[in-house]
Amino acid sequence: MAAGRAFLGAPCSSLAAGARRLAFASPLPRTLTPALSCGVRGRCIASASSSPDAASSPEPYVLTTPLYYVNAPPHMGSAYTTIAADAIARFQRLQEKNVIFITGTDEHGEKIAASAEANGRNPKEHCDAISSSYKTLWADLDIEYNKFIRTTDRKHEVVVNEFYSRVLDSGDIYRADYEGLYCVSCEEYKDEKELLENNCCPVHLKPCVERKEDNYFFALSKYQHKLEELLTRNPDFVRPSYRLNEVQGWIKSGLRDFSISRASVEWGIPVPNDTKQTIYVWFDALLGYMSALLDDGEQASLQQAVDHGWPASLHLIGKDILRFHAVYWPAMLMSAGLSVPDTVFGHGFLTKDGMKMGKSLGNTLEPKDLVERFGADAVRYFFLREVEFGNDGDYSEERFINIVNAHLANTIGNLLNRTLGLLKKNCKSKLAFDSIAAADGSLFRDNIENLVDNAKHQYENLLLSSACETVLEIGNLGNLYIDEQAPWSCFKQGGESAEKAAKDLVLILETMRIIAIALSPITPSLSLRIYTQLGFTEDQFRVLRWEDTKWGGLKAGQVMSEPKPVFARIETETEEDAQASSKAAKGGKKKARSKGLVEA
Ligand code: MSP
Repeated sequence: MAAGRAFLGAPCSSLAAGARRLAFASPLPRTLTPALSCGVRGRCIASASSSPDAASSPEPYVLTTPLYYVNAPPHMGSAYTTIAADAIARFQRLQEKNVIFITGTDEHGEKIAASAEANGRNPKEHCDAISSSYKTLWADLDIEYNKFIRTTDRKHEVVVNEFYSRVLDSGDIYRADYEGLYCVSCEEYKDEKELLENNCCPVHLKPCVERKEDNYFFALSKYQHKLEELLTRNPDFVRPSYRLNEVQGWIKSGLRDFSISRASVEWGIPVPNDTKQTIYVWFDALLGYMSALLDDGEQASLQQAVDHGWPASLHLIGKDILRFHAVYWPAMLMSAGLSVPDTVFGHGFLTKDGMKMGKSLGNTLEPKDLVERFGADAVRYFFLREVEFGNDGDYSEERFINIVNAHLANTIGNLLNRTLGLLKKNCKSKLAFDSIAAADGSLFRDNIENLVDNAKHQYENLLLSSACETVLEIGNLGNLYIDEQAPWSCFKQGGESAEKAAKDLVLILETMRIIAIALSPITPSLSLRIYTQLGFTEDQFRVLRWEDTKWGGLKAGQVMSEPKPVFARIETETEEDAQASSKAAKGGKKKARSKGLVEA
């Protein structure tokens, strides 16, 4: 079937496997720096510097999400990668890195043109509408990216053209015929072996179409040895390690060249010197990771983009697009004489009934809905805590509500609220001791500090679920301590007991301060609410560093704010019914809804 040595297939991985939140106003707005450059409606924040500046510059940390197809608005599966990326970006900012967090939309190709037509819009109008729905969702989810690239941006086209010319100059592009079965949803040719009955794509469950084309090819096979070397020299290039094994397997089984142009697709970047063809959507989109680095309004060039921070530290992607990132992309970069990224991390899928949640199968979960009902912190926390980063994870509303209530409302929210209540009643909301003095001779502080070190290590290693677990463990220690020490009765005893109780409250509030910082990559708005209740300002919260998790931030004399619940418990009708009558609870249909703010 294939002509010459051309091969176009990279199989998509096959698949393994009522409420309303709170009465809080939407998350407090972040103060944007004046140097904000990308002019989007979402939370685009300026990075510390995008130009290299010798010794004094903080270490750069460039991380990317995939650029999302604009065939349909985002769903929870697409939001998942971006939430994880945002948590990592926030952690790296706490580590004082010069973070450039890149996201964006992939807007060319047959699939996009077809969805535009189906929606009765021209492709550009369609891309504008869907791309902006991504920006809206990112704002709703408290995502603070630095760069949002659209592959229809002019600067992107310049970079793609230059990159194509470099690869051409390396002698890695040639022309050949190809005939094969194409999955439009995957935007790739498939190997017949991997297809289901009636030539159906195993991911999208739709029949592939016969295609015969005269295309330009990239000589991937030339890079077999270099890719093997890359993975041997740097096993962290692909993470988690089980995905590295998968990639090594692909490479070992032999790499075949792939087509990088389409004769039949008009909606794309024209091939330089052959305007009858457009560049294959993947050979175009991957370059978005570089064109994104260009500042708006500057003279666009590939070199300029590279100078702004290439190579990336981390590409976060789903496992279905691993081959493109871990095989095609590094080979393309090598061909163009450019550095490869440090790490490609392939996470798992959010599934519904065991099937990948996705636009093509129509089995999606609406993130907008979830945010409206439960708030961004709950959504972010649940998916990062519940799904071990790298593995698949199934969504269940019941589990969502249980986890969020138990961890955020009870363990964290209630601990803060009842401690502040006691402080108000017994100390007029004022700390009587420095937290260092209050912890003198106490093992409690050591235990907290050990857990904070663990959380740091876990964030650094992208173990996001474990990091959440560790921070929760800090909250559990706080709850245990206050229950054991029972400061409420010590205050009643007066004298030394009351003094000890006043110290214990400082211990717990210092612990809450640490939790606020350590959980801020995951639940930024909740963390801000905790921090301001501890008597700090929003500006003070904005400049926090991981360093500030060190014990000792709270000083004697600091006045706490009025105790107010920081996280509203999600109530379900079943729970409500259970309180009203056990009979109703048994037969009651679950429908989650807010009961307002939880009182301590
Ligand atoms: N446009 C390409 C990426 C180009 S990057 C240069 C693309 N877009 S996509 O919109 O189809 O998918 C974007 C990302 O969302 C992928 O990493 C994919 O794995 C992820 N997800 C889509 N559905 C998902 C789930 N159900 N669960 C988790 N992630 C999922 O591929």
